[in-house]
Amino acid sequence: MLSLRSRSLSRISAARKRTAMAGITARMPLDEQRRANLANWEDRVPIHIGPDGYELAQFDDSAHLSRVVRFDVPGLGDLAGLDVVHLQCHIGTDTISLDRLGAKSVVGYDFSPAAVAAARALADRAASTARFVLGELYDAVDVLGAEQFDLVFTGIGALCWLPDVEAWAEVVARLLRPGGRLHLREGHPMLLSVDDERDDGVIAIEWPTFGRTGATRFEEPISYEGDGTRLAHPTTFQWNWSIGEVVSAVLRSGLRLDLLREHTTVPWNALDGVMHEVPPLGEWELIDRPERLACTYTLQASKPRTLQATKPL
Ligand SMILES: C[S@@+](CC[C@H](N)C(=O)[O-])C[C@H]1O[C@@H](n2cnc3c(N)ncnc32)[C@H](O)[C@@H]1O
Repeated sequence: MLSLRSRSLSRISAARKRTAMAGITARMPLDEQRRANLANWEDRVPIHIGPDGYELAQFDDSAHLSRVVRFDVPGLGDLAGLDVVHLQCHIGTDTISLDRLGAKSVVGYDFSPAAVAAARALADRAASTARFVLGELYDAVDVLGAEQFDLVFTGIGALCWLPDVEAWAEVVARLLRPGGRLHLREGHPMLLSVDDERDDGVIAIEWPTFGRTGATRFEEPISYEGDGTRLAHPTTFQWNWSIGEVVSAVLRSGLRLDLLREHTTVPWNALDGVMHEVPPLGEWELIDRPERLACTYTLQASKPRTLQATKPL
């Protein structure tokens, strides 16, 4: 899960690194921001599969599901007979969990070669039939094919890496067969705008609450999971898409909004010192009056049998 824990922000300016795109044939060339993000994700993978990382050994138990998917189970509906794609699947823990819920097929998709390799290794270890495909988010229709899926699953640190939420929604709409659906659970823009480095218990707004105002540059020396190994590429560029921006993008893509629900809990310790882990799912929420802060949201949408994209205002 992603924590926007970093804290030396500067607006995008100079100091941008060019990084190698090992193994990717991008149909839409990566800009410098996504190149920096890719280099950063490549660094994180060996840390996440190592000590204090994503605890992959738990997948040796064939009944084990990731914490993220455990939360989603009641709202996901029956996956039997469905072709599922998990966008920005990282090292495959959620993807393999979806496979374990009985989908007909599950494909994980991510632009990090290291993540895809780690996900394939985990699928082997977990005796999962989930497949993993390398590709950039905005190229997903070219890489995977249009209208191949009944369910697009994504979230928990996915949208914040994407510079264009409307283009994302179009990709989702095009991947889905008519009648197919989107399940998104994501970090709430309210939480992602909070200063997570305060030690006085005050919930203070520090970061942008809109994606359209541009990327925020972060410097994170270590990852949110793992043993504290330093990242060779600590610079990332992220967008905190507001609920309005996400919903508008989904509607403009022609999808029908079926559900939008905000939650007081989040699957990682997002605000150290003021949050505690709550049973039964092991999610985190504010210790004091958790109703003050929306931490995540679930958005579900579906593709009508006849798709009619709405025009931007
Ligand atoms: C926080 S992780 C995904 C969340 C998942 N819930 C997890 O924790 O396993 C974000 C993933 O997005 C991927 N990613 C970031 N930008 C991307 C892009 N433009 N295209 C495809 N994948 C991207 C990264 O490689 C990373 O694996």
